[in-house]
Amino acid sequence: MGSPAIAILGTGSYAPARTLTNDDLSKLVDTSNEWIFSRTGIRERHIAAKDETTSQMAAAAARIAIADAGITTADIDLIIVATVTPDMAMPSTACFVQNHLGAPGHAACFDLNAACSGFIYALDTAWAMLGSGRYRYALVIGAERMSTVLDWTDRTTCVLFGDGAGAVVLGPARGTAQIIGTKLYAEGAHADLLCIPETGCSPSDQTPGGLRKQPTITMKGREIFKNAVREMEQAAREILHQHHLEPSAIDCVIPHQANLRIIASIGQHLKLPPERFFVNLERYGNTSAASIPLALDEARSTGRIKPGDTTLMVAFGAGLTYGSALVRW
Ligand code: ACO
Repeated sequence: MGSPAIAILGTGSYAPARTLTNDDLSKLVDTSNEWIFSRTGIRERHIAAKDETTSQMAAAAARIAIADAGITTADIDLIIVATVTPDMAMPSTACFVQNHLGAPGHAACFDLNAACSGFIYALDTAWAMLGSGRYRYALVIGAERMSTVLDWTDRTTCVLFGDGAGAVVLGPARGTAQIIGTKLYAEGAHADLLCIPETGCSPSDQTPGGLRKQPTITMKGREIFKNAVREMEQAAREILHQHHLEPSAIDCVIPHQANLRIIASIGQHLKLPPERFFVNLERYGNTSAASIPLALDEARSTGRIKPGDTTLMVAFGAGLTYGSALVRW
């Protein structure tokens, strides 16, 4: 007997109330709306409130996804949170989410770090765990508080990122909707291109006074750009080939929302028109692991994804990690 068909049964998303526009940023660092928008396609991003944690944003997105799936919190037996900005080093953000939701104690909870590819990695993991038949309903969440790991004096990185969360509920397929396939990759040889170098756990993270440094992102933007285009194209082509599909069979592509020029290049390489891509980075910036589920929820709630559609999600991020997922709705 083959594995049971598993589907995305519900989606949800959350973004903090406060927005920071490019003009706001131009008061913090030497930049302009024109520079940021023309280079990235971003106009504004959401920034978490001082006391708003990654797990709270994750739980807010999860509640919507659970309601959308037509199940209850008590049905959830697996919670995976993809994040690089956990509430704490331990316990996992997923445990905090379980507590916020009042989810049952039998639910397995853990975090997963694959940077901006985290949601695709978590989807693959949850799909395999549900496919084993040992878990029935999973919450797969991408949630980030990127504003805490930005150097707000570095204009080359602080203009790119934002905060938010997206969630999906996976469970037994109810009709023809189902996850068709996923594909994951990593190239650890390029780990230096995009990092948050300090964890506070390494001796080199200690200052002479014994205090931990505030960890912030460092990035080689141009190299990331080139790798992102190549790797996302590869991840898209290989999964389509594996499932005997042409790019034209995809109704909607949900790419990692890092930069509009990266997305446009992938469209050109795959010979897909811009309308085939769902893009919301103009209002959110790059929310790392939250970016794909946040866009996915918006694409569904605005009717851009309809029952029967086939969606390709494709991501890249620090690691370098990259990956893709094919889903029928
Ligand atoms: N405002 C004004 N000028 C700026 C800014 C800014 N915010 N940032 C950089 N510049 C300047 C640079 O200092 C440089 O000036 P110089 O020529 O005098 O040295 C000039 O603009 C050009 O800089 P580049 O880095 O060459 O600009 P580029 O056109 O490559 O665009 C960008 C930079 C937007 C970062 C681009 O390389 C990019 O998007 N790369 C991918 C980044 C990305 O997606 N990162 C996240 C991916 S993974 C994940 O999601 C975690």
